[in-house]
Amino acid sequence: MTILCLASYEKGHEFLREAKRQGCRVLLLTSLSLQGKAEWPAAHIDEIFYMPDQDHAWNRADTIKAVSYLARTRAIDRIVALDDFDVEMAAALREHLRLPGMGETTVRHFRDKLAMRMRAREAGINVPDFVPVVNYEGLRRFMESTPAPWVLKPRSMAGAIGIKKIHQADELWPAIEFLGDMQSFYLLEQFIAGDIFHVDCIVSEKQVVFAIASGYGRPPMEVSHAGGIFTTGILQRESDDALRLVAENQRVMAALGMVRGVSHTEFIKARADGRIHFLETSARVGGAHIVELVEAATGLNLWAEWAKVEVAGADGGYRPPVPNQDYAGLLISLARQEHPDTSAYNDAEIVWRLAQRHHAGLIVKSPSSERVRELLAAYERRFAEDFYAYQPPRDKPSQ
Ligand SMILES: Nc1ncnc2c1ncn2[C@@H]1O[C@H](COP(=O)(O)OP(=O)(O)O)[C@@H](O)[C@H]1O
Ligand SMILES: [Mg+2]
Repeated sequence: MTILCLASYEKGHEFLREAKRQGCRVLLLTSLSLQGKAEWPAAHIDEIFYMPDQDHAWNRADTIKAVSYLARTRAIDRIVALDDFDVEMAAALREHLRLPGMGETTVRHFRDKLAMRMRAREAGINVPDFVPVVNYEGLRRFMESTPAPWVLKPRSMAGAIGIKKIHQADELWPAIEFLGDMQSFYLLEQFIAGDIFHVDCIVSEKQVVFAIASGYGRPPMEVSHAGGIFTTGILQRESDDALRLVAENQRVMAALGMVRGVSHTEFIKARADGRIHFLETSARVGGAHIVELVEAATGLNLWAEWAKVEVAGADGGYRPPVPNQDYAGLLISLARQEHPDTSAYNDAEIVWRLAQRHHAGLIVKSPSSERVRELLAAYERRFAEDFYAYQPPRDKPSQ
């Protein structure tokens, strides 16, 4: 089997390695701007091709021609997008070459926040009230009938400005005026105060075959706008929250038509009434080292499992390994130091350390969820003293 992986950013080494271990011929198409910079696992890749890019974006028509050219002499069986930005391109290429996997209509539900909201609501899933930023009368009616605050957010990550909280109607109009012709690429929705959770799962032939629920310490928007330390931890598996989130995730996957692969899906549990709202999903592994978090708790590497699911394909036959039942927590902070020294953090539960300039990060693992929670809380306080640096948000969507 020949598998073509698209990666406009450097991502998914473990997918590439596993695909090779599964016996695939592995082709990688990546951005020309990464040539000589990215450290791809060359031993596990048969051929690498470079696509000219502008800030990692590829021209769609050129990419279709380039991949079709490759296909003259290579029988491509599967196309996989390793980065979120490549999801639509992979679908367009599958449709063009008539290859199996999700097509453009389906992947749209995993990329476009308006499409996923609409589809989820049609399926009876609880979502924050929302309106497209298209018709002004519609926007006026929405703001009259839905209590503020609201959030104005890009439908996909390609927005000029990131997510913005809007407190009253007369804040919206200048904001969308500023967006000009790009305003229809945004949506407006009710801000639901509450805790944010994520469910990371594996789907094989439309069945969720593995899912694990975690809770962010503070809402990601708060961390990206106001600053602070990013934390997330696996929820107690039998807790009411975890069971509800896993069940809700299953409904979301079915409603949006996920066929096979992995997904990172987010939910808000409203502080007001405890109801769970579907926030967003994606057809990829979670960012921010959530793969390492899940691996610490379960032993499953979502990149590697994804490769196995793709190789098994429509014949089914994919079975996830039996997951370990440990707990894990992750914390990441911007650091004042270029190479922060975390060696003073030496509890036996530490299983992973982040190596990234001006960042400090750790993963802890324990059979006890309480112990993980205790360590995360203590480390969060220590990180604030030892490393934490505030950087004003860049005007781009948070991840
Ligand atoms: N309707 C909402 N109510 C409350 N918070 C929200 C809402 N939409 C987004 N947020 C906040 O913004 C963050 C980012 O939004 P999200 O839709 O997940 O987009 P992305 O992660 O792609 O930037 C969320 O994690 C949450 O903190
Ligand atoms: Mg998000």
